[in-house]
Amino acid sequence: MTFIRIGFTASMVFCAFLAAAAVAQKQDQKNDKTSPPVWTVPDINALPDDAAGRLVRHGRDLITMTDAYIGPHAADRDTRFAGNNLACGNCHLEAGTKKFGLPIFGLASDFPRYSARTGADISIEERMNGRPLPVQSPDMQALAAYVKFLSSGVVQGEQVPGHGAGTMPELDRAADPKHGKLVYTRACLGCHNTNGSGIARSPQAMSLGYAVPSLWGGDSFNDGAGMARLITLENFLHSNMPHGADYRNPMLSNEAAWDVAAYVESQARPHKSGLDRDFSSDLLISPLTRPTDPTASPKSNINTGRLSLSGRQ
Ligand code: HEC
Ligand code: HEC
Repeated sequence: MTFIRIGFTASMVFCAFLAAAAVAQKQDQKNDKTSPPVWTVPDINALPDDAAGRLVRHGRDLITMTDAYIGPHAADRDTRFAGNNLACGNCHLEAGTKKFGLPIFGLASDFPRYSARTGADISIEERMNGRPLPVQSPDMQALAAYVKFLSSGVVQGEQVPGHGAGTMPELDRAADPKHGKLVYTRACLGCHNTNGSGIARSPQAMSLGYAVPSLWGGDSFNDGAGMARLITLENFLHSNMPHGADYRNPMLSNEAAWDVAAYVESQARPHKSGLDRDFSSDLLISPLTRPTDPTASPKSNINTGRLSLSGRQ
């Protein structure tokens, strides 16, 4: 995860929002415990134009146009919380509603969740960096309202299939960044640019964000982000890239996805301070390897995790 660090207190409040939403849903659905999980994204256009509806819409805008509101070039200097110009929606695709595109749909049913990084239940903190987003800020409230809205109708505790980015099988060799470079040139460079810098909508106005987001360099996700984990990036790419792919119609072979992920991870990017004290930097004891993480297994960490990535460039 790249940017704003939602402070500990902020995240607890965020969790409280989510928990309250979940309780409401549970009551709504207590007579229907056997219904299978569905992927029914509620229609934001159907919301009334009242204060609650506007709050949810602002939350959605924060996901898709993050840079305009809380990016490093946001018009209001006091709300420049994000550490780079990526939008949340550059990774949480289709405003957080795409299956295996790191959705935030239905997430409220799965929180609060234990984080081994903090040793406490959290929501969206620790994965983020930058300046703390104040709990009471309209932006924080809006993000929470949007996440809650997207979980309308999802039963508490329900594991909605389609969360995360997928679970592709590991290779029986380490991922190969040299082959990955060839894949990058063939399948990514046309959009993400020669140096992974992406394409700004307007280089003179970075608050407009990216037409194609950056993959490495000074304005990309840092080395402590979820995307900096080879296995997460591999699954994301297989399910979503080149742009237009989805989990039913992948465009990369499994091998190509591992190798190009290794190439992207081998490039320079901002450093998250304190990473050496972070559990997840040791992939053998990483909390992310616990069985509840669908994208992880100890084997994959040995064969294909960051530590075994050969030929860093
Ligand atoms: C047709 C253009 C296109 C191609 C080709 C393409 N991408 Fe993307 N990529 C995008 C766009 C656009 C987004 C942002 C998604 C959005 O906002 O909906 C994106 C998002 C991403 C992200 C998440 C955001 C970030 O910057 O970290 C990664 C990682 C990524 N692409 C990697 C790749 C890789 C690796 C390839 C080659 C295998 C690739 N993409 C091919 C257009 C493309
Ligand atoms: C560079 C890609 C990227 C960007 C940009 C990004 N995220 Fe994420 N986010 C991830 C990944 C990857 C995960 C999966 C968890 C992990 O591996 O750390 C995640 C997880 C999450 C989760 C928890 C989801 C779950 O299933 O547990 C939330 C909530 C979230 N992000 C919110 C945000 C918000 C809000 C923003 C913008 C301020 C944002 N993210 C920007 C990549 C990104």
